[in-house]
Amino acid sequence: MSKKITFLGIETSCDETAAAVIRENDIETAEILSNVVSSQVEEHKRFGGVVPELAARAHLENIEFIIQQALNQSKISLKDIDGIAATAGPGLIVCLSVGLNIGRSIAAFTNKPFVGVNHLEGHALSPGLEKKIEFPYLLLLISGGHTQYLIVKDVNEYQQLGTTIDDALGEAFDKTAKMLDLGYPGGPAVEKFSKLGDKNYFILPEPIINKAGCNLSFAGLKTAVLREAKKIGDEKKLKYNLAASFQHTINKILLKKTEIAIQEFKRKTNKKNLHLVVAGGVAANLSIRENLKNLSKKNNCIVVYPSQKFCGDNASMIAWAGIKRFKKNLVDNLDIVAKSRWPLDANAPYMKGPGLKL
Ligand code: KG4
Ligand code: ZN
Repeated sequence: MSKKITFLGIETSCDETAAAVIRENDIETAEILSNVVSSQVEEHKRFGGVVPELAARAHLENIEFIIQQALNQSKISLKDIDGIAATAGPGLIVCLSVGLNIGRSIAAFTNKPFVGVNHLEGHALSPGLEKKIEFPYLLLLISGGHTQYLIVKDVNEYQQLGTTIDDALGEAFDKTAKMLDLGYPGGPAVEKFSKLGDKNYFILPEPIINKAGCNLSFAGLKTAVLREAKKIGDEKKLKYNLAASFQHTINKILLKKTEIAIQEFKRKTNKKNLHLVVAGGVAANLSIRENLKNLSKKNNCIVVYPSQKFCGDNASMIAWAGIKRFKKNLVDNLDIVAKSRWPLDANAPYMKGPGLKL
């Protein structure tokens, strides 16, 4: 029997300080030996969003303790670990540097291989922690900073089919929560209060729904929510109706655009058993999960979601991407630096800014 690879993963790209120890098992999924996540929700709550300097300081204060906790819980000592993976981008440089620096130092000190992981690849491969999925598969990546349809051809091999031309989906949820004063973090708050509202009360725009393939846009929807929010003031029932209508509109957009992405995926890959993986923080949203599940029968595809604890930022997915890259000899030198921008598909067109033609 071949030796099972064990990795320590470290994640500090945004507002979660996380460390995990993961071992590959016999069925090519992961044994989670520890998965420690320290959320900074309390630090950022009063500002209604992530404040980079505060986030970096909190990472610095917590990271050693979190790594130590992950090692203790795993009952594995550093000498028995095969490698260290830390998120190297994309994200806030001040935050990324904290995890990257300590990861590189541990690798140097223990003389172990180091892998600098693309956070988006962490999300992209995250369902593999629990379920083996054959490549290629279609990925809908929905997080606080990114919204993309990609063909995941293999580890390190991605083809972008579509992306947002303005806001990320998580950002749209967060801004909606802020405009309606529903609380922080925004995504879970909108989901919670949507349950109390009438989703058909407000008719909101579905930007670029009939053009631009499976590219997406949420800025016009956000502006419409702002306009309505100003009109309804403090009336609770109307706020819940607006939250519900926003979420319902998102679901309509995702349904239509995902169908287009599925057709493109089929055209490009000729794959019969199509797996649609939905990953990233917003994939924790139960109404979105249910909505996209309904696509499966009609389009002959299987929709796969990571468990909720692996949707939001965590270090298990970083350790897992580290193991997958290590097995392909994709290890990094210790002089690797943090990158704020790092697309999975380097050839994808840049879809933001003036002059964009759809
Ligand atoms: O993947 P993630 O933890 O961090 C990034 O890589 O950005 O995603 C965070 C985003 C935030 O915008 C958060 O509001 C959103 O995911 N989110 C949700 C839900 N839980 C988290 N959005 C909608 N519904 C949820 N239940
Ligand atoms: Zn993330």
